[in-house]
Amino acid sequence: MEKVYVSPSILSADFANLERDIKLVENAGADWIHVDVMDGHFVPNITIGAPVVKSIRKVTNLPLDVHLMIENPEKYIEDFVKAGADIITFHYEAQCCHCEEQRDVAISSLIKRIRSFGLKAGISIKPKTSPEVLLPYLSEIDMALVMTVEPGFGGQKFMEDCAKKVAYIRKNSPKNLIIQVDGGINDITGKICKDYGANSLVAGSYIYGAKDLSQAILSLK
Ligand code: DX5
Ligand code: ZN
Repeated sequence: MEKVYVSPSILSADFANLERDIKLVENAGADWIHVDVMDGHFVPNITIGAPVVKSIRKVTNLPLDVHLMIENPEKYIEDFVKAGADIITFHYEAQCCHCEEQRDVAISSLIKRIRSFGLKAGISIKPKTSPEVLLPYLSEIDMALVMTVEPGFGGQKFMEDCAKKVAYIRKNSPKNLIIQVDGGINDITGKICKDYGANSLVAGSYIYGAKDLSQAILSLK
């Protein structure tokens, strides 16, 4: 059986008890900790930044899977590297300082920069973005993140049409690419995504809302 990386999203944790809630999922079998960074521009919501990642780094040994839902991600990469991120995923749709015509160059150099620090690099696409845009980068990245809700908030309804993009990416990518899905994931929607070829599942409300966290994480594997 192929390894499935379960990455609980701390967006559904109690921010006043973050250490406790991270230990809860760590002890329940989580593989990574998913950290949703939102800037109020790329998405309508504001969450947390690099200083919080730095504090989280001290309380867990699990890889920190940082999902940047921000404009101009290139400005903040080093902050998150220094804070202790292990995986940095940015959005294909995000603005970057470089001009539009050089967008592909800017994206490639951002990937290279993340990897130059020894981190895994990921690119994410929103529900309305075609998976074809990822084709030029699939051999350069470690992970593709397919959003299965509009980014910005936890607790939204899973969009199965988005999950279908996973099959296209899987068909066109090198064997070792990690394909992650995020948004509305539970035991049932997670199974749908795995059948399409996903091997990393992010889940916030499903895991943190469960009575038995170990059982919830196990059900996603
Ligand atoms: C949404 C975030 C998700 C969110 C998932 O923009 O990227 O990681 O926390 O929450 P659930 O699992 O509740 O849909
Ligand atoms: Zn996320």
